[in-house]
Amino acid sequence: MSVHPLGSDVNMSYPNGDMSRSAQIEVIRATAEQIPILANLIELYAHDFSEFHHLELGADGKFGIAPLPLYWSDPNRHPFLVRVDDKLAGFVLVTRTSSVWDMAEFFVVRGYRRRGIGTAIAHDVWRRFPGLWEVRVMQANHSALHFWERAISEFTGQPIRPTPFEKDGKSWKLFTFDSTPSGVDASS
Ligand SMILES: CC(C)(COP(=O)(O)OP(=O)(O)OC[C@H]1O[C@@H](n2cnc3c(N)ncnc32)[C@H](O)[C@@H]1OP(=O)(O)O)[C@@H](O)C(=O)NCCC(=O)NCCS
Repeated sequence: MSVHPLGSDVNMSYPNGDMSRSAQIEVIRATAEQIPILANLIELYAHDFSEFHHLELGADGKFGIAPLPLYWSDPNRHPFLVRVDDKLAGFVLVTRTSSVWDMAEFFVVRGYRRRGIGTAIAHDVWRRFPGLWEVRVMQANHSALHFWERAISEFTGQPIRPTPFEKDGKSWKLFTFDSTPSGVDASS
């Protein structure tokens, strides 16, 4: 298993889905100049989340959730844009607290879903940041629960069951695992 240096771009061949063509999946560190691009993608993400979580549009028709400026100043925060065949296809926000990596936000644009792209992105991010990881998912977000369970177990080579917890009256699930090569099954 190779470990990518922080902030490097990576190209992956198309992992699943339409095998009749190959696509380039790139996970690229987002620059401060790209904050408006990330903010636009976060609007789409917020729209998906408004299905499970009460979010209201502002009078301008936007949810108005901007990425935290801290992502470009705090060394424990890592923002990424995702491109598929040079087209924007999602984003990932990673944070580190108390020696644990946290998949803070993770999004694949609808038109690119169910092709293995989310899995390829997650695996790349876990290889870039080896160590203990936590992924929190709302219980109501059934598709994400299925996705993480499968993506993590494929990565580690072991089945994983999340731990339930409650926060602000909502039910959540917590996945915890180790992404270091020694913590990953050699057969994976
Ligand atoms: C969850 C999400 C990242 C999945 O991305 P994706 O690129 O579609 O994921 P993949 O194609 O790699 O899916 C791999 C597997 O996960 C599971 N999965 C993914 N989406 C699923 C869905 N909607 N319903 C059930 N299982 C699903 C399936 O087992 C799938 O394999 P299959 O397509 O062969 O059945 C994407 O749907 C998304 O961005 N959702 C909105 C934001 C979100 O919920 N983010 C996670 C926050 S915790």
